[in-house]
Amino acid sequence: MGQVEPAEWYDERFPESRSYQGPIQDSPFLGVWMATMVEVIRMRREGGVLVDLGCGPGHMAELVPSCYEYRGYDFSKVALGMARARHRAAPFRARCEFHHWDAVTDETPEGDIFVATEFLEHIERDVKVLKGIPEGTPVVASLPMKDSAGHARFFPTEADVRKRFKYCLDIQRVTSLLPLNSFILSGIRK
Ligand SMILES: C[S@@+](CC[C@H](N)C(=O)[O-])C[C@H]1O[C@@H](n2cnc3c(N)ncnc32)[C@H](O)[C@@H]1O
Repeated sequence: MGQVEPAEWYDERFPESRSYQGPIQDSPFLGVWMATMVEVIRMRREGGVLVDLGCGPGHMAELVPSCYEYRGYDFSKVALGMARARHRAAPFRARCEFHHWDAVTDETPEGDIFVATEFLEHIERDVKVLKGIPEGTPVVASLPMKDSAGHARFFPTEADVRKRFKYCLDIQRVTSLLPLNSFILSGIRK
């Protein structure tokens, strides 16, 4: 079983991770990010502030529809630096910010819709972070089926996803992305 890791652990790994170098279409996570965005588009008609919790190097900012103001949050200074550098080199969108945020010590940021791709399993207080989101707000998360380094938990079945999040989300859909070993969870904060 993996374990929760500090920011320095991510700081060391991001610059070396092949999944996060190069253009977005070369990343093995592209399918997960695209499936997350499909749920975002399905769940909310208006724009507003889209919050990306545990944004890492910020690839999601490239896929978010332009009606949204994108705000990414993460505790890895290296990941935030990579995100800002990528955005500077080829601006993804007009309204795009990356902020330092630690899920353990900081309040859940404010926003109109929340995404969290491959992040909630990295922290113990995943449910507490989600409970900081106002009632009625859409949330879309990708969650791993398999264990890996840095994971506090993983989700072998759809039932595991539903069991963990049913008290904080009115679950709309759990989609299995079997070849990518991920579930996409969409729900409304309740
Ligand atoms: C597997 S990466 C996912 C990054 C990105 N969401 C993606 O889909 O590529 C997990 C991210 O969670 C962040 N993270 C882990 N624990 C955190 C915490 N306590 N507070 C904020 N971010 C954290 C890491 O820095 C890392 O960027």
